[in-house]
Amino acid sequence: MQTLSDIKEIKLEQLRPKAFIDEQVAALRKAVGKGTAINALSGGVDSSVVTMIGHRALGARLRTVFVENGIMREGEPEHIVELFGRLGVKVELVDARAEFFGALKGLTDPEEKREAITQTFYKTVFGRIVRESNARYLLQGTNYTDVEETVAGVKRQHNILEQLGIDTQRQFGYKVLEPIIQLRKTGVRKVARALGLPKEIHSRPPFPGPALAARVIGEVTPERVETVRKATAIVEKELARSGAFQYLAILHEDKVTGLRGNRRDFGHQIELRCWDSTDAVTGAPTELPFAKLTKLANRITTEVPGVVSVTYNVTAKPPSTIEAV
Ligand code: XMP
Repeated sequence: MQTLSDIKEIKLEQLRPKAFIDEQVAALRKAVGKGTAINALSGGVDSSVVTMIGHRALGARLRTVFVENGIMREGEPEHIVELFGRLGVKVELVDARAEFFGALKGLTDPEEKREAITQTFYKTVFGRIVRESNARYLLQGTNYTDVEETVAGVKRQHNILEQLGIDTQRQFGYKVLEPIIQLRKTGVRKVARALGLPKEIHSRPPFPGPALAARVIGEVTPERVETVRKATAIVEKELARSGAFQYLAILHEDKVTGLRGNRRDFGHQIELRCWDSTDAVTGAPTELPFAKLTKLANRITTEVPGVVSVTYNVTAKPPSTIEAV
C-alpha cells in the first residue's frame, strides 16, 4: 500500500464520477496490458465498484471471485452473483464454508475469531486462488479512509500480498491495483451510481467484514450462525424503512428459561440493536415505536427455532460499540 503523502484525495465536490471512471478504466488497461487480473467481491460498495471498473477495463481478463464463508446473510452469496450476472459480470462462487467453520471451531475470544476469519480469507482461501491463478495483478478496494486509518494505527498495516502468503521477493511480479484509493465512502457511492449499480449496492447500510460472526457471542458454529441469520432477515425486513443508520440481531452465549406450550424451554436469547449515527464513530439507540419492538419479539420467537427471549439494547456508543464482537 502507498503512504498517505503519495495519494491525493479527491474531495466529493471535485469528483466527476464519469470522468473518474474513464480515467480509472484507462489506468487499469495501461497497467495490466495483455495480462490478467483477479479480485474478490463481497457485495459491499467498495469491492462492487472495483469489480465494475475492472470489468469495463479488462472484460474477461478480470477473474472475480466471491468467497462463500458461511457467515453471510440469508441468500447473500447467490444474490450478489446473480445481481452481477444481470450487469454482465461473471462472478465465480467459491464454497469455503468448511474451511471457515473449521478455523472458528472452539474459538470464543472476539479477537481470535476475527483473526481466524481474516487468516482463512487471505492465507487459506483467496491466497490459494491467487497463487494458483496466472494473474499477476490484484485489484483491491482500498479507499482513502482505509489508508488514513492504517497510518493512524487504527487498522493493522495492510500489505495485501503478505497477507495472501505471497512472498514478493521470491514470487516477483505481483502488482496490487487500487482504483478507488483517492475516494472516501460518499465518493465511492457516487461512482457506484454512475456505474449503474442498483440502490441496494450504492446505498447499502454498513455491514462488518467478519459478517454474522460479529454478532455471535461465543463459538461460531453453522447452527448458531443460522439462528442469527434468521433473526437478521426479520430485523432487516422490519426496520428497512426506519431510517436508522444500522440495525442488527445478536445471539447471546447464555441461555434463559422460557415457556412454550406450558413447558419450560431453556432457549436462546437474541439482542436487537438499532443505531442513529452518521459515521459509526458515535451512535445512539433509535427510539423505535414500542409496537415495532413487540412485533419484532413476536416474529423472532415464533419464526426462529429455539429463541425464547428478545431484548432491545438502549446503550449509546460509547461505551457500547455497534457490533457485539
Ligand atoms: P463498532 O462495532 O466498532 O463498528 O462500533 C463500527 C462500524 O464498523 C463496522 N464494523 C466493521 N467493519 N470490519 C468491517 O469492515 C470489521 O471488523 C468491523 N467491525 C465493525 C460496524 O458494522 C459499524 O458500522
